[in-house]
Amino acid sequence: MNKTLKTLQQTSPFLRACRGLPTDYTPIWLMRQAGRYMPEYRAIRAQHSMLDVIGTPELAAAVTLQPIDAFGMDAAIIFSDILPPLIGMGFNLEFAKGEGPVIHNPITSPEDVAALRTPPAEENMGATLAAIRLVTAELTPRGIPLIGFAGAPFTLASYAVEGGGSKTYSKTKALMYTAPQAWDELMRKLVTVQVDYLRQQVAAGASALQVFDSWAGLALGLQDYVRYVQPYNKRLFAELAHTGVPVINFSTGTAVYLDQVAACGGDVMGLDWRLPLDMAWQRVGLDKPAQGNLDPVALLTEWPELQERVDDVLARAAKVRAGGGAPHIFNLGHGIFPNTPVDNVRRLIDYVHEATAR
Ligand code: CP3
Repeated sequence: MNKTLKTLQQTSPFLRACRGLPTDYTPIWLMRQAGRYMPEYRAIRAQHSMLDVIGTPELAAAVTLQPIDAFGMDAAIIFSDILPPLIGMGFNLEFAKGEGPVIHNPITSPEDVAALRTPPAEENMGATLAAIRLVTAELTPRGIPLIGFAGAPFTLASYAVEGGGSKTYSKTKALMYTAPQAWDELMRKLVTVQVDYLRQQVAAGASALQVFDSWAGLALGLQDYVRYVQPYNKRLFAELAHTGVPVINFSTGTAVYLDQVAACGGDVMGLDWRLPLDMAWQRVGLDKPAQGNLDPVALLTEWPELQERVDDVLARAAKVRAGGGAPHIFNLGHGIFPNTPVDNVRRLIDYVHEATAR
């Protein structure tokens, strides 16, 4: 490991908190912090499609830096999406205007799963790896870490089978129930691709990783989660255990089986907004650092309401810490909304830094 990354690990409040070490203030970053709520982002997107921005290292790097330069978050997250790794596996992905992501050739049979490729990340996601090299060359000297990320296998499988977002996940669940061998093969292939991609992100300079399992908890009950998801997530986190960087295990809608989510692995638990922070944290173990969990809708309100909700999260984190628990990383409980006022973001970042300075 090179010297600058070592220095970053000792000085960055975000990376220190990830390792359970004390910090001078509570570090903060926001899921989807580079995005449409920022005029600078919309200006770039007016000229280039989503896949163009992701596929052009200079543009992806510029967008990644926008929120850091505007608001001073304690970590950047590389600008990409969880879905582009599916392209090299054989999927025809489009970010359709107003519709969100669409896959034009979703899986409809076990034969479709058998035909999927598992290309190496250097070939499949080379532009994002190049963007990581550009961003870290800029940020490491400034003392700011970069988070790499990928989707967890269930969340990716749900897009690959449904062909887009879903409310019921009925096609995905039908595949797992009626063709368990094809499900196993699909999940294995996704784990193979994602492990290589995440490791290559570290090799390119990412100093932390986050795995997004956005939809498993909304789709599956406890028994199906344990049977059809957990073994693959366990393998994924086990394969990432020796990269030398902390791994954040983020999911949503998993409140009823958070203990089973934590059992999958990861160094930091990313918690959604559905349970009060300390209640969720208790269920995953107070000795593990936790990230979250302000409801992103709070950022759409006026400051007094927003402040009350921020104070509640901070007070619950302080209580855990006072009782001997691990450090807290402030974040939202899910991604920021595009209609979030920029001034609320600025005020939130400054407030968390000032209110927690010790
Ligand atoms: O956090 C960041 O700033 C890094 C960039 C990032 C994006 N997507 C950019 C994006 C990250 C980490 C993601 C992850 C992602 N993408 C997830 C997991 C996190 C979560 O929110 O649960 C999921 C499920 C996706 C899939 C996805 N991508 C959806 C459902 C959509 C459409 C909804 C939407 O917000 O428009 C996208 C598009 C997308 N990904 C945009 C951005 C900035 C909007 C694209 C645009 O029109 O500019």
